[in-house]
Amino acid sequence: MHPKAGTILRLFRTEPGYISGEFLSKELGISRTAVWKHISALRNGGYCVEAVPSRGYRLISSPDVINPHEVTAQLDSKTIGRHLEFLKLTASTNADAFRLAENGAAEGTVVLADAQSGGKGRRGRIWSSPAGVNLYCSVVLRPAIMPNEAPQLTFLSAVAVARAIELTTGLTPEIKWPNDLLITGKKVAGLLNEMSAETDGINFVILGIGVNLNMTAGQFPDDLRHPATSLLLESGSGVDRSHFASTMLNELDRLYRDFLEHGFGPVREEWQRRCNANGRQVIVSDTGTACTGGTFIGIDTDGALLLRADDSVLHRITCGDVRVI
Ligand code: BTN
Repeated sequence: MHPKAGTILRLFRTEPGYISGEFLSKELGISRTAVWKHISALRNGGYCVEAVPSRGYRLISSPDVINPHEVTAQLDSKTIGRHLEFLKLTASTNADAFRLAENGAAEGTVVLADAQSGGKGRRGRIWSSPAGVNLYCSVVLRPAIMPNEAPQLTFLSAVAVARAIELTTGLTPEIKWPNDLLITGKKVAGLLNEMSAETDGINFVILGIGVNLNMTAGQFPDDLRHPATSLLLESGSGVDRSHFASTMLNELDRLYRDFLEHGFGPVREEWQRRCNANGRQVIVSDTGTACTGGTFIGIDTDGALLLRADDSVLHRITCGDVRVI
């Protein structure tokens, strides 16, 4: 997409009502014929633009593709997404971002893909990544923190995704420890963070974020361990993927800047407020040791789950599956 067409899209989204050809031509510093050519190109790209004589142009709908220019046009971030790579199909955006980071990619570099052929989930699982429906996104960060503090960034990304879901759909997701996002008890998003570190510091962290946006019931694999859903299935209406991506990257940017300035405290507080188990009785299984039951107290600074067992002993649990009872 031509950068001027990207600017026209941004204006369509920020200015209410119709925008006159004259306004666009002045704003972009191009002739009205050139404005018309960019509008035609947008239409050819699947944008529905209404043109009304003596009123101007208005954007009616956007194609359901993640479009890097559309994402960029809606960013108000300082760091995250300022360099953005878009791929129609890739094996895994996490693998791409990792490679870019190893080759010196700047903090905030984002890789977005329309589809993944080898989407990676936690614990070596596969993340189902069909084309045309969801968000597959990886972000390069280079924070000056110790490797044992890196899990704090996974909690931060969970909060960013929760905020973006709320802002774009009005739905209120819950976070399930360690980092699944649930709506009505079903998984709608997953996070996979990877890191390159030395003993005394982090080289980079890759935040891997997968959100089921417009997936329909028939597109979910049959062998899911836990029930899954999409924003389309929960809200009944489709989500504009570029808008969702930019909303989430903007929230990530705000949270990350706050984190660098004020530390983990504010993220931890919001994460715990959004957690489905906060203060409730839970059972944790698959911990590698016996099942543990007790009250969910919160998360430790390294991401460990804090559980007050029935005998009042405080347990720190680093892996497992939490079930609220
Ligand atoms: C989970 O198992 O819950 C984590 C899923 C993480 C999926 C995302 S999609 C974008 C990024 N690229 C990958 O290969 N995985 C993550």
